[in-house]
Amino acid sequence: MFKKTILSALVAVGLSTGSIAFAVERQIEDFDFSFEGPFGTFDKFQLQRGLQVYTEVCAACHGLQYVAFRTLGDEGGPELEADQVKAYAAQFDVYDADLDEDRAAKPADKFPMSGFDGAPDLSLMAKARAGFSGPYGLGINQVIKGMGGPEYIASLLSGYTGEEKEEAGSTFYQNTAFPGGWIAMAPPLEEDLVEFRDGREASVSFMAQDVAAFLMWTAEPKMMVRKETGFLVFVFLVFLASLLYLSNKRLWAPHKYKD
Ligand code: HEC
Repeated sequence: MFKKTILSALVAVGLSTGSIAFAVERQIEDFDFSFEGPFGTFDKFQLQRGLQVYTEVCAACHGLQYVAFRTLGDEGGPELEADQVKAYAAQFDVYDADLDEDRAAKPADKFPMSGFDGAPDLSLMAKARAGFSGPYGLGINQVIKGMGGPEYIASLLSGYTGEEKEEAGSTFYQNTAFPGGWIAMAPPLEEDLVEFRDGREASVSFMAQDVAAFLMWTAEPKMMVRKETGFLVFVFLVFLASLLYLSNKRLWAPHKYKD
């Protein structure tokens, strides 16, 4: 994993000269997410708001086919209560091969697939778009500032300029975060589109950040466990290294300081 990060950083530095011209127009904002850094954790209230934005806005077009409803109740995630998970799942219809008909979804089922032509599944999007999304296309920002997929998604959702164009019978919308600058997704968010239960202001930027955080969780639900394990491994290695150093010294001491 670490090797891979270093490798992508090196590749990014190598590629950076080529990408500057293209990247000047791309703007990826450096949002502060609670899960950044070695000890960062998901904020369950933010994930709950993000789930709400996904459900009320994005789900009309985008699926989350790799995410099971029951994980909404897992520790470290949105942490819905068991009955809330059940009620949430029941809003969706899934095809049951045994019954050969559609039925209300249960917690063990997964979210539906994308229902809109050309809209990609969002389950893993935050990781798929993690690379090279820093300002000026430098992947190095991802390593240093922790900028990656969620910053890209939040910037994408709040990066519409309002310009549109028709091309080959389709409409494209100008967006300062999307590679190439024109995206086929109409601006999905507008102020006060959802009403947050915790009273948080539903500005485009807040909704974008909340849904981006939620999509980071869908892409890496065990991030907190990974960080904890990583830290324990680090502590253990420091301990082991000191032990080896000391025993090495002790082992050689009689020979070193002879006469
Ligand atoms: C009306 C349907 C529709 C809605 C609603 C919608 N999208 Fe999209 N979305 C699309 C389409 C179509 C694309 C493909 C655009 C393209 O490739 O030009 C897309 C692409 C994306 C991408 C991928 C961009 C990339 O880098 O390839 C992300 C991320 C995304 N949408 C997030 C969202 C989020 C989050 C929401 C809810 C706030 C949302 N979308 C709401 C239709 C929609």
